[in-house]
Amino acid sequence: MAIRLGDEAPNFTAETTDGTINFHEWKGDSWAVLFSHPKDFTPVCTTELGRVAGLKPEFDKRNVKVIGLSVDPLDSHNKWKGDIKDVTGNELNFPLIADSDHSIAEAYDMLPATAGVALADVITVRSVYVVGPDNKIKLSLTYPASTGRNFDELLRVIDSLQLTANYSVATPADWKDGDDVIIANAVSDEDAKEKFPKGWDAKKPYLRVTPQPNK
Ligand code: BEZ
Repeated sequence: MAIRLGDEAPNFTAETTDGTINFHEWKGDSWAVLFSHPKDFTPVCTTELGRVAGLKPEFDKRNVKVIGLSVDPLDSHNKWKGDIKDVTGNELNFPLIADSDHSIAEAYDMLPATAGVALADVITVRSVYVVGPDNKIKLSLTYPASTGRNFDELLRVIDSLQLTANYSVATPADWKDGDDVIIANAVSDEDAKEKFPKGWDAKKPYLRVTPQPNK
């Protein structure tokens, strides 16, 4: 069953490189990123995990906890850590789930079409879920094994999700933190005068551009 935006993030208890974790308890009322990689000791995955580790201060700044997952066993994750450090210079600094029985991958729809593939050969795709403080799914991404993700883009999206959770705005194409934003259509011009005292530029009646309200 596909996971939709707005669904509650399924809870689970899992073995990780930081010990046993109950997802909802571990997450608390923070934001979280749960992401899967296809396989330990593979090239793209090694670069991705190192990059996420290097961005830990950026996730911390945004009150986002990060947790990774693959169907590899725990001893494989623990051995792979050394390679991640060797290649990227970054120590694995977030928990990595060993989902050997695929139960979490199935709950989060992280598996590819598997018709004709032996169970032992099934590996996760590159999934990303951003989960809000209310444990609801705010964003999902799915990439194939051949394409490493852009984690600066993930931070940019998190900035948008956090801004739009707190203000009646939306963010336009290629927006980044500090750029102008769009006043939500649900806000009348009358209410907008109070909510957006800096005013706005009405490019169309449905497209009102205003400075980012929390800057
Ligand atoms: C990689 O990370 O490079 C990779 C992972 C699984 C299959 C193919 C490539």
